[in-house]
Amino acid sequence: MRDLLLRNIAQIATPEGTCAQHGTSMQSLKFYTNAAVFIQNGKIAAVGEEATIRPAAIAAVPDIEIIDAAGKCVIPGFVDPHTHFLFGGTRVEEFVDRLNGVPYLELLQRGGGICRTRKDTVTASFEQLYTQGKKILQQMLQLGVTTVEGKSGYGLDLETECKLLAVMQQLQTKQPVSLVATYLGAHAIPPEYQNQADAYVDFMIDTVLPVIEAKQMAKFVDVFCETGVFTLAQTERLLQAAAKRGFGLKLHADEMNSTGGGGLAARLGAVSADHLLAVSKEDIEALAKSSTVAVLLPATAFCMRRPYAPGRHMIDSGCAVALASDFNPGSCYTYSIPLLFALAVIEMNLTMEEALTAMTLNAAAAIGLADSRGSIEPGKQADLLILKEADYRYLVYHTGINIVEHVIKGGELLW
Ligand code: NIG
Ligand code: FE
Repeated sequence: MRDLLLRNIAQIATPEGTCAQHGTSMQSLKFYTNAAVFIQNGKIAAVGEEATIRPAAIAAVPDIEIIDAAGKCVIPGFVDPHTHFLFGGTRVEEFVDRLNGVPYLELLQRGGGICRTRKDTVTASFEQLYTQGKKILQQMLQLGVTTVEGKSGYGLDLETECKLLAVMQQLQTKQPVSLVATYLGAHAIPPEYQNQADAYVDFMIDTVLPVIEAKQMAKFVDVFCETGVFTLAQTERLLQAAAKRGFGLKLHADEMNSTGGGGLAARLGAVSADHLLAVSKEDIEALAKSSTVAVLLPATAFCMRRPYAPGRHMIDSGCAVALASDFNPGSCYTYSIPLLFALAVIEMNLTMEEALTAMTLNAAAAIGLADSRGSIEPGKQADLLILKEADYRYLVYHTGINIVEHVIKGGELLW
């Protein structure tokens, strides 16, 4: 890998730090003008004014490769910390049903929803899932996403969950986007355990977690904690067992109903609590005091025609907020980063600076990676985006349009 000097940058806009920024700190970006970035061994070695960085980089590496950013803006690569990007089939019929007023949870009770996708995922081959996953990651990369969290959860049984996680392991070695895997066996109660949710939780604890731990197939364990799916008590039982085995914890919390998932995530020291459309005031306070990142998924609320999570209020209360796509075949069949920026700023009243922090540093923190990515600082991975514009504010102003021109991933120019 060649060392790189990225020069002629009109503006660098980046959050700073190695952990999530809470509350008012989300607003503080670092800006450089007439800037350059010196990249060595895939990592950022120096960032600052071109007048200082350029001679130092050339002195250190005389044959350094130089990339001209053509007077544009450079920002950190985006991190998408909540996706369900591996699945069989699609569910366009249910999308139409929902547009016609059928509630999401009713479709699930009828054996549709996640259980519909489960059938298509059980029958999909490893190769089919791999090929489809690779295509999706390639498209995400073109939108500037350099790190993606991917959940299992459309297999439910041991074999199919392992198939999904094994596809992710293979994808990690065969394409450039960094992947972080989460085991989400607690995504739905499989029909074979109908009315026996506790027995299914036992099965995950006794049978599945040991295998996933032994094969190192996932970094996190997640639960869909929701009325009619997994109760708060079942969620806590599974997550406690996962923590004992050394997994990090995540929660689909307070999405449709306020069940106390946000507060549980904070109490258990989960790395994130996600969705939070119906989060209570008390749980917002608990999250603000904790190191748990509140991952908001506004594209899901948009596609489900539901009120957005109170992101503005959460930041004002001191929470660390991140944004993610939640890409999945049911509630949110999109991984559009431009849509996320538009919804977060125009609809949820985050500032552009907060939205950028939420999509980079805080998103990295939501998957435990803020020490190695999410900002443009020495020591971090060189995951950078060169935009088509000279000003990061076009991320929202050029509404719904992808303004990513080039992607540098781990010090390599990819796109
Ligand atoms: O985060 N809420 C649960 N899981 C996904 C939806 C999965 C699906 O409908 O296939 C979500 O929205
Ligand atoms: Fe989700």
